[in-house]
Amino acid sequence: MKSIVNLLPTSFLVLTFLAVANGQWGNNNNNNNNGWQNNNNGWAQQATFAPTTVPTTTSPTASPTVSPTPSPTAKPTNAPVEPIVLDQVALLAATTIPLGGQLDGTELEYIVNTADARAGGQDTVTMTYTIPKESWIAVGFTNGNGQMVGADAVIGLPDSGEVLKYSMSSKLLQGVVPMPQNQQTLIETSLVQDGGITRMTFTKILNEAGEVPIAIGANTFIAAYGFDNELFIHERRDSFAVDLVAGEVEVVETRKKALWKAHGICAALAWGYASPMAIGAAVLRYWLPDGMWFKIHQALNMSVAVLTVLAFGFAVAAINAEGLSHFSASPSPHRLVGLVVFLLLIAQTVGGIFRPHTPEKGETKTTTRSAWEIGHRVLGISLLLMAWYQIASGVKIYQTLFVESAGTNLLGILWGSIGAIVGIVVVGRIFAYLAEKKEPEASESPVSEV
Ligand code: HEM
Ligand code: HEM
Repeated sequence: MKSIVNLLPTSFLVLTFLAVANGQWGNNNNNNNNGWQNNNNGWAQQATFAPTTVPTTTSPTASPTVSPTPSPTAKPTNAPVEPIVLDQVALLAATTIPLGGQLDGTELEYIVNTADARAGGQDTVTMTYTIPKESWIAVGFTNGNGQMVGADAVIGLPDSGEVLKYSMSSKLLQGVVPMPQNQQTLIETSLVQDGGITRMTFTKILNEAGEVPIAIGANTFIAAYGFDNELFIHERRDSFAVDLVAGEVEVVETRKKALWKAHGICAALAWGYASPMAIGAAVLRYWLPDGMWFKIHQALNMSVAVLTVLAFGFAVAAINAEGLSHFSASPSPHRLVGLVVFLLLIAQTVGGIFRPHTPEKGETKTTTRSAWEIGHRVLGISLLLMAWYQIASGVKIYQTLFVESAGTNLLGILWGSIGAIVGIVVVGRIFAYLAEKKEPEASESPVSEV
């Protein structure tokens, strides 16, 4: 009976590891329209950048930003654009800024038109955004935080040729909504898609009622483009500080990479390695000298607890610094499940320390002790499973946020090595089971000190 109970965690490990390896856990976030999804195209998908015809600086009078050169092969995406003659232009030179971060390879060209006659004398900015990809395209304006939620955006949809203003109230598709007709005040829009490039041009009034203002000076803008022409989550997006007068641009870090890296390393060490080995020591006690399994089990579990507390601390600090909401279940359940794992781990650790002691020789096991043994095993395995889900989802989120890390198959490396540990434990347990059957007295492994 005891051997069967001892085998339970092993079979749990085998089944669940297979489930995780099959992607049943890791894929939870795909295709569920919850925001982290739609990476079917691969986060590492690289677009090749063909040189654009956009000059780095253009001469004052002509306005090359708003007259994309039509080419015979260009897909017709919008009505032909009339050349623009500006009545009064204060900042005469168009400025071209290559964007960095995830938007490396894209270019934003702009010119500020003060007292623009086309806008009844209001100040406007003409922008041309060029991306090395045929997909939907967007430039957005934030109140300085570089966040998508709360920003206004100009989005170009190549299939219909529409270039419209949107407000963005969430990171879901439903939260990205065109502004009402009376707010669609863009002037001279155009959208051209050709030879692997998409280029959107529009002129926007700088200060409009109920909208994020654009300053003739420092601004924090965002931009994004999709996997294809249909508006859905972006393949690439980033935030950047631009000084419209000085023409200086700098990528704005909206997510704290160093803290997330520290969080991921601590969590993966704890639950990818220390915890399976701690459970492994308990499962393989047959092969270990007197009481040794417990020493290993206790030491490794203590390190799991310490590393998880550290991981939790880094995550909460990062979310705090980013001004985001703690433990929310959207756009991914990772934050919420992370809190549950943390709280259950505390319960498991406290339960392990204050466990009801095992009976002395000759005494019978108390019901409390038996209940604790079952509870400790069930909770231990459940925690490990939830933590594995956390590893799978956490790494995916990390590689979405910091696309430069997506080139490494982190999950492959993690599951490969974790799988090896689980494999050793399973095989070791099977052999122990067979050996115990042959010499039943050996199955009563000493547990007196625990
Ligand atoms: C249907 C449309 C969209 C969906 C479903 C969507 C979804 C998301 C999601 C899930 C995130 C978090 C993951 C990440 O950081 O990459 C995010 C972040 C971001 N998005 Fe979007 N997005 C959409 C449109 C846009 C547009 C049009 C822009 C730009 C004009 C934009 C700019 C950004 C930026 C700069 C971030 C990172 C900063 C932040 O977390 O707020 N997004 N978006
Ligand atoms: C198994 C253990 C893990 C636990 C218990 C855990 C816990 C958490 C918690 C509690 C948060 C949210 C903090 C808050 O809302 O204040 C969080 C967020 C996050 N974690 Fe983990 N995590 C684990 C594994 C990982 C791994 C291995 C990575 C890989 C790098 C990772 C990456 C992230 C990222 C990128 C976020 C931000 C998510 C977002 O913006 O929605 N996590 N984690």
